[in-house]
Amino acid sequence: MRTTLLPVLCLAVAAEAQELHLTTTGYTARPQCSKSFASPSYYFQPFSYSLSETVRYATSIPSPTVTRTYAPAYKDAAKHLTTNVSTTTWGSWLPGKTAIHATDTHDPYGQAAWSSMWLEADLQNYTTTGMFSTTVSPTPVPTSELVLPPRDYFGPTDCYDFPRDFVFGVAGSAAQIEGAIAMEGRSPSLLEKLISGDKPKDYVTNENYFLYKQDIERIAAMGVEYYSFTIPWTRILPFVLPGTPVNKQAIDHYNDLINTVLDAGMQPVVTMLHFDSPLMFVASDNITRHPDIGYNNAGYQNETFVDAFVNYGKILVSNFADRVPIWVTFNEPLLYSFNFQGVDNVVHAHAQVYRFYHEELKATGKMGIKFNDNFGVPKNPKNSKDVQAANRFNEMQLGFFANPIFLGKQYPDSILKTLPGARSLNKTELEYIGHTADFFGIDPYTATVVSPAHEGISACAANSSTTNSLFPYCVNQETKDVYGWNIGYRSESYVYITPTYFREYLSYLWNTFRHPILVSEFGFPVWDEAEKELSDQLFDSPRSTYYLSFMSEILRAIYEDGVHVMGALAWSFVDNWEFGDYSAQFGLQVVNRTTQDRFYKKSFFDLVDFVKARQH
Ligand SMILES: *[C@@H]1O[C@H](CO)[C@@H](O)[C@H](O)[C@H]1NC(C)=O
Ligand SMILES: *[C@@H]1O[C@H](CO)[C@@H](O)[C@H](O)[C@H]1NC(C)=O
Ligand SMILES: *[C@@H]1O[C@H](CO)[C@@H](O)[C@H](O)[C@H]1NC(C)=O
Ligand SMILES: *[C@@H]1O[C@H](CO)[C@@H](O)[C@H](O)[C@H]1NC(C)=O
Ligand SMILES: *[C@@H]1O[C@H](CO)[C@@H](O)[C@H](O)[C@H]1NC(C)=O
Ligand SMILES: *[C@@H]1O[C@H](CO)[C@@H](O)[C@H](O)[C@H]1NC(C)=O
Ligand SMILES: *[C@@H]1O[C@H](CO)[C@@H](O)[C@H](O)[C@H]1NC(C)=O
Repeated sequence: MRTTLLPVLCLAVAAEAQELHLTTTGYTARPQCSKSFASPSYYFQPFSYSLSETVRYATSIPSPTVTRTYAPAYKDAAKHLTTNVSTTTWGSWLPGKTAIHATDTHDPYGQAAWSSMWLEADLQNYTTTGMFSTTVSPTPVPTSELVLPPRDYFGPTDCYDFPRDFVFGVAGSAAQIEGAIAMEGRSPSLLEKLISGDKPKDYVTNENYFLYKQDIERIAAMGVEYYSFTIPWTRILPFVLPGTPVNKQAIDHYNDLINTVLDAGMQPVVTMLHFDSPLMFVASDNITRHPDIGYNNAGYQNETFVDAFVNYGKILVSNFADRVPIWVTFNEPLLYSFNFQGVDNVVHAHAQVYRFYHEELKATGKMGIKFNDNFGVPKNPKNSKDVQAANRFNEMQLGFFANPIFLGKQYPDSILKTLPGARSLNKTELEYIGHTADFFGIDPYTATVVSPAHEGISACAANSSTTNSLFPYCVNQETKDVYGWNIGYRSESYVYITPTYFREYLSYLWNTFRHPILVSEFGFPVWDEAEKELSDQLFDSPRSTYYLSFMSEILRAIYEDGVHVMGALAWSFVDNWEFGDYSAQFGLQVVNRTTQDRFYKKSFFDLVDFVKARQH
């Protein structure tokens, strides 16, 4: 048997993409086939085994000879800070030991005060025990781990290359990988309280707080260019509020993490707040349900939140912005805090940090914000009520933030007329907040099929009672299309493989919010993956299909739809703690939770190879 590749006709492929959108009857066209083969002729020939794999290896990117700077170094940047930023250190909270016996009770920011925050957080079943208690030295990744897997039979047939400045990387977030939650001065966050009962907590996770050097080494060895990570507020400022001391060990830790990324030839992308909101903003009996809305409560509506976040953001950029080209202020700020005051606070806080970064520090990197919104698509695009429902859904999730931040426009009417306590922004506020983002971050995991609430949108929107489960969107969300088909191939959780909706989404975002789009997370937890044997987990073809189809649609959006896609960051570089769960595996690597060993999955090689093959 011989394998021969048919020549690919690029123009024909572009035409086919249009067909797939428009054709509702008939067969899928094969425009690459110039003639029909319906009359075979059979013959004998000598047989020999001919299939042999050529061994190819992932190639790490070379270490840089020069590193660009984007802002003044800390000693100069610190002159722009107006609150006390003295540094100190604390120990670790070991139940029954330090916490109980610290004697410096006179010091409002001493060890005793710090420990008492953990006592008040009242973590039953808390254990500090991972394998590590200090930074682990990295070891080079052996070439035997970098052999590329067999290719999948089907794959993208596009002919486009990525723009030279395209940001390609992988992402993770602190609470989902770090562990060491009560060590070296970190104070409690929402995430230590959010998950109740006997579900797994974030106490240990991947121990990346100690294994970051090895994790970075493994990403760089694959040839990835950008590493997107998050910094926990409660590590940098254990007492959270302006004027309280900065944790020296945390500053040292993230300085070293950033330098390790740069030394490995990669670039860092830093997110300031990724669900790990300081616990002190969240009244303990109000954690899981918001009184008005019935959504989780991340405390953004707290009266001290804006000043506190701005102070924290300024400290971060003063310390690290010299080496970090891309910043994200908030990750998915709607997800745990859908209430008017919370979002209004986020919008104001974001704008202040952005202005400090560009106007006072005169920093030259990029700063944006990233949102969750599984693209709401109308159940029947020809039904205007479904279209209206989809518009409302997307606008309430995105326009709420993006109207003011990206366009200098008022909050959407759907918000002002629905959310309890909603107020419009005045002219001064709109001028201050407008145009304070360099890119639009979106985590477009999948699409969701939308139609109006049964009783109609306005009747539902007028009823904010806690029993009204569709409030405030007032739309039905489904995973089946109008003909009853699943919207795509299903994962372990809410994600379906929806690449063509994704391309349409990129057009929606670019044409609505008019800023370069950073696909700041996207990924796929393969069905039942955690239950499989290791070798079967590693051969994760559905995840490859997800990534390659989405990346291919990004290229089509860029070249065929004129959409400025700035980059794409795959979620996640490793299987991690999914908020009480380890079974929805979004990772490009498997983790053995006993040994903390990491293993590259096939999709990691396929994704990097897809990008490298399209860079010139
Ligand atoms: C800054 O905070 C530190 C630690 O709390 C304190 O010792 C110091 O006096 C403060 N400095 C000023 C100028 O307030
Ligand atoms: C502590 O662990 C027990 C046994 O797993 C569980 O039933 C209980 O809900 C846990 N408590 C908390 C607060 O997590
Ligand atoms: C807001 O946060 C502060 C801590 O910064 C806390 O003292 C206060 O109780 C919180 N307010 C509410 C209403 O929870
Ligand atoms: C929790 O929320 C309720 C309803 O808004 C409020 O009355 C109560 O004071 C809150 N509790 C705390 C401790 O903030
Ligand atoms: C706009 O709103 C801000 C914040 O509420 C307020 O401080 C300011 O006075 C208002 N400005 C005008 C012109 O109304
Ligand atoms: C509000 O919605 C709930 C749940 O759908 C329903 O039981 C209740 O009757 C509605 N209230 C009004 C005033 O429509
Ligand atoms: C983790 O590694 C240990 C030691 O090699 C092994 O016994 C165990 O089966 C592994 N666990 C999983 C889930 O593969």
